[in-house]
Amino acid sequence: MTELFQFMSKQKKTTRKASAKRKSTPKQPAATSNIESMMHEDRVFAPDKEFSKHAHIKSMTQYKKLYKQSIESPEKFWSDQAKEELVWFKPWKKTLQWKAPDAKWFVGGQLNVSHNCLDRWLESDIANRAAIIWEGEPDSLTRPGEERTLTYRQLHREVCRFANILKRHGIKKRDRIIIYMPMTPEAAIAMLACARVGAIHSVVFGGFSSQSIADRISDCGAKMVITADGGYRRGSIVPLKKNVDDALLIKGEDGELLAKSVEKVIVHRRANIDIHIEPNRDFWWHRELEYVDANCPAAKLDSEHPLFILYTSGSTGKPKGILHTTAGYLLGAKMTSKYIFDLKPEDVYWCTADVGWVTGHSYMVYGPLANGSTVVMYEGAPNYPEPDRFWSIVEKYSVSILYTAPTAIRAFMKWGEKWPKKHDLSSLRLLGTVGEPINPEAWIWYHEVIGGKRCPIVDTWWQTETGGIMIAPLPGATPTKPGSATLPFFGIKPELVDDSGEAVKKGEGGKLVVRQPWPSMLRGIWGDKKRFKEVYWSEVPGSYFTGDGCRQDKDGYFWIVGRIDDVLNVAGHRIGTAEVESALVSDHRVAESAVVGRPDDLKGQAIVVFVTLKEGVKASEKLKIELRNHVGKEIGPVAKPDDIRFAEALPKTRSGKIMRRLLKQIAAGKEIQGDTTTLEDLSVLTRLSASEE
Ligand code: PRX
Repeated sequence: MTELFQFMSKQKKTTRKASAKRKSTPKQPAATSNIESMMHEDRVFAPDKEFSKHAHIKSMTQYKKLYKQSIESPEKFWSDQAKEELVWFKPWKKTLQWKAPDAKWFVGGQLNVSHNCLDRWLESDIANRAAIIWEGEPDSLTRPGEERTLTYRQLHREVCRFANILKRHGIKKRDRIIIYMPMTPEAAIAMLACARVGAIHSVVFGGFSSQSIADRISDCGAKMVITADGGYRRGSIVPLKKNVDDALLIKGEDGELLAKSVEKVIVHRRANIDIHIEPNRDFWWHRELEYVDANCPAAKLDSEHPLFILYTSGSTGKPKGILHTTAGYLLGAKMTSKYIFDLKPEDVYWCTADVGWVTGHSYMVYGPLANGSTVVMYEGAPNYPEPDRFWSIVEKYSVSILYTAPTAIRAFMKWGEKWPKKHDLSSLRLLGTVGEPINPEAWIWYHEVIGGKRCPIVDTWWQTETGGIMIAPLPGATPTKPGSATLPFFGIKPELVDDSGEAVKKGEGGKLVVRQPWPSMLRGIWGDKKRFKEVYWSEVPGSYFTGDGCRQDKDGYFWIVGRIDDVLNVAGHRIGTAEVESALVSDHRVAESAVVGRPDDLKGQAIVVFVTLKEGVKASEKLKIELRNHVGKEIGPVAKPDDIRFAEALPKTRSGKIMRRLLKQIAAGKEIQGDTTTLEDLSVLTRLSASEE
């Protein structure tokens, strides 16, 4: 973290179609204390002319002009946009009140997020269009999943009715509510109902444990939990209500119940399983509906009224409750959805993220609904009952925009082309990725096999903290380069800096910071102002520190190299893990890889690599040597792995991020310590530890 970053990558600009090949010219790194990047990726994909003609932003000239305005006069830019995009009950008096790190946007204004997502469409022809098309998990190969469609009018009605249930149970503005639900429309209804009455929701991913629920309740002092009896996952039932019951009994170190603030639990019936109902505490959603009507005007809330808290794990310590507020967040989610996905009312848009992640908040619920679009929501896993689940859904609903994660794309690559090939994917017109750097090989596969070489790919860089996408191409304007999130969105001023906070030269690497406040930025960590300042605002005073390492090429494109904490230091050479991983995956036999450092007396750190192979490929000593040499060829001898381990699967968080912290412990031959509650499949760890040499 302390060194200056310097990347030595040379970018060769060639604008051409998909035929170009990856270039790799290893060279001996010169410096010894800098991050070194030696991989070339010189393919450039110009936007398709026909796509550009119909896109919201049609050319780089248009993008550059608007971007310039947005950076030079941000308050005017955002004020114009807020007037144009949002429906207000009361106009604001001051666009921005800023004293780092505290931002207030659209001060004095009043609006409601649920009103902006629903009521505003009721008098238009969008009212009777599908807002949510929901597909349940299929029971088996022969029994398809349930399906339900809610029009905007229907969704509005359900949200109003549920909001009245909240009021009936004493929920007031600013009360905190935990939502622990499967991927059903009721999850979105619950979120929108909270927003409607001014309660603050905190969605906890349905795969998290009772302990995680209890910790989160304790941290935010939640008064209510909204859950379901159970949810389906890969053919079995996750006992959600039982997990909540257990959470409510967990005691903290002081012997007190962690979740003592919870007064009521509302339970949606999804799985039809037997559950315990505690009298006066637990209530069935469908029973409560009998007591309410659908008349519930949206509360008039201040622009800075808290909308949600979403917990995200830091590299150490307890999860941080990231706080987002009303107007700025919604404006960010709405505008980025519109311009980056080129969203139009006739699109069928599918973001595959779970509602428990920020992507599910901004790009499954708030952003697309604020644009009046049709959203597909799927309950199950991508490979259950067979690995073509996603592609059958794309075909069935004529999905036009698909937004998913690189980890999913690599899994699809591993399962093979035959699964997507079984389906007609011609309805797709745009593809997106988020969550981690996408290696060029996966990008090209996504482009060719899923996008049929005709769909632009938007690689979107952002964070829970940023609320919305910060760096991404505009599909009708920006030429894309596989592996780069390209250029900043309007009003966003990212910069790469060295340790003294000085901007580094173009082409060099550094810490990614954001220089100007933006409307959808986090407003704090719930209940922990000190940590908020320390984590985000102390590294580079006055700027928001993202925690990511990045480099910018000579065209100004941003290439994220990963979390700064993950950077390796091998014999004085600082190497980004993403680069070594990308080199490994460029070998046609490798499905996925994770790279970590292991303490080494001689070199400081040795490079340990965990590799999963594509289906049908056999692990062997010969393959290890070949992969070592391949990395040496792609990056340079210094990056040759010291230790390659084949694994059936890698330990990942539920949102698909590789848990390097655990791999580091395995690589160092240590026992696994620390929090593993966010791990998707615990058995992966046992198998990995057993595979140690
Ligand atoms: O390291 C970056 C990586 O994911 C981090 C944010 O994670 P989270 O808050 O869970 O939000 C995920 C959904 C926005 C970032 O700091 N990341 C996210 N998107 C990309 C990425 N890294 C490279 N390229 C991306 N497109």
